Amino acid sequence: MKHEMVIVLDFGGQYNQLIARRVRECGVYCEVKPYTTPLEELKRMEPIGFLFTGGPNSVYLEDAPRVDPAIFELGVPVLGICYGCQLMAHTLGGRVTAAQADSAREYGKTETFYDTSCRLFQDLPEQGISWMSHGDYMEKVPEGFALTARSAACPNVAIADEKRGFYGVQFHPEVNHTQHGTDMLRNFLYSVCGAKGDWTMGDYKDTAIRQIREQVGSGRVLLALSGGVDSSVAAALLAEAVGSQLTCVFVDHGLMRLREGDEVEAAFAPWDIRFVRVNAEALFLKKLAGVTEPEAKRKIIGEEFIRVFETEAKKIGQVDYLVQGTIYPDVIESGAGNAAVIKSHHNVGGLPDYVDFKEIIEPLRMLFKDEVRQLGRELGLPEYLVSRQPFPGPGLAIRCIGEITKEKLDLLRQADAIFREEVEGAGAAGDQYFAVLTNLRSVGVQGDGRTYDYAVALRSVNTSDFMTADWTRIPYEVLDRVSVRIVNEVPHVNRILYDVTSKPPATVEFE
Ligand code: XMP
Repeated sequence: MKHEMVIVLDFGGQYNQLIARRVRECGVYCEVKPYTTPLEELKRMEPIGFLFTGGPNSVYLEDAPRVDPAIFELGVPVLGICYGCQLMAHTLGGRVTAAQADSAREYGKTETFYDTSCRLFQDLPEQGISWMSHGDYMEKVPEGFALTARSAACPNVAIADEKRGFYGVQFHPEVNHTQHGTDMLRNFLYSVCGAKGDWTMGDYKDTAIRQIREQVGSGRVLLALSGGVDSSVAAALLAEAVGSQLTCVFVDHGLMRLREGDEVEAAFAPWDIRFVRVNAEALFLKKLAGVTEPEAKRKIIGEEFIRVFETEAKKIGQVDYLVQGTIYPDVIESGAGNAAVIKSHHNVGGLPDYVDFKEIIEPLRMLFKDEVRQLGRELGLPEYLVSRQPFPGPGLAIRCIGEITKEKLDLLRQADAIFREEVEGAGAAGDQYFAVLTNLRSVGVQGDGRTYDYAVALRSVNTSDFMTADWTRIPYEVLDRVSVRIVNEVPHVNRILYDVTSKPPATVEFE
């Protein structure tokens, strides 16, 4: 079945993926395409609507990203957001300039007044907060456009040509700070583009299973299972589609959290697949002995992982297909490629060239994380696996600061389990939360004696994209319970610290 398609035309703004996620949350399938995509290709996708994203440029500059003006002749509605709005105005004969007065330049939460007779704002309140981030000003709007929202500083916060179905907003409806932003997107999709909303994960599951069966035939399939959400859901999907032809290799590097390896294994027991668990703890710890530098740890783990996997693959013999758990944000991001590398995330983009296989299958390639989780639920994976917080490929190795030993890892596993249990029990957890074993040792007093032991740091962050994050305001009583339990139950820990730094300037992980 062919889904209704909306195209998010990407002009390089920071919220592009968020726009696409919001559209899909509204039950409408969309894809993100770079603004350089030829019009013919866009037409072939038969979109029912376009969303033009924000972007860092100014439309009046010579080398600013542009669109083929013929896009406005297709009879397909357009919603331009921020740069997308200015670009539409510029292309259709309006005039955009740099805001002269500081007051016309708007950043942050802004009181905004809407004309609710405009289809974009229908059935919504006439007044609300919107999230602005623009330094340019639409001096003259194009012919045929009405002004449909304003703020104190700006008379044309939104413009609309209802006849042609062209809408532009200077603010960002996709971010949570904009009140009713998702409702505005929904209005655009359903009321303007005439969407019916045919995007559900139940449908996706059935279609994906059918496609996998067609593609794979009677071939043999190999999958590297890390225990993370993406590879687990990919494995479940493949198990459902071609279980008897599937081998999952789960490399347990000994850097997992408490009981995690067993949980992963148990989750796959219901399927009739070949499940190989490689207990490689000793091997990894040997390679990591004496290594303290975070990037060196990542590199060693990444390489060793591939090596172990390769050895197992050779034992299995000829495979036809290799499955990767690539998800849509990886696909979109790998196109950009000029952001500074802060940390090398080893599990993005590199799996063995040297395992002999015919083709790669990436069944989650078009899905966002929330959709992957939903698909996992549809497939019957247990909730603890599906709603699992992200866990880095290098595992506890980058949460055990400095040199890694089995003893330190065991302490960390216990402290981490206590922290997770308590914050989850209290409903106080952020989006990612964990304990870190610092390499700080300090003096304490326990019983009547002096101790000189480890400090455990606790970290919990609230974030939607992991690019920026705020620390979670965990209630003091909960922190107190965690602290008392860890120092009592975990040997060689005599001090508990709570990390109150956001990202930036810190990162989520310590290493
Ligand atoms: P940072 O520490 O960069 O983390 O703020 C952002 C998100 O990425 C995860 N992370 C990793 N994931 N391999 C991974 O697969 C890695 O090497 C790695 N380092 C950080 C981190 O847990 C957080 O969710």
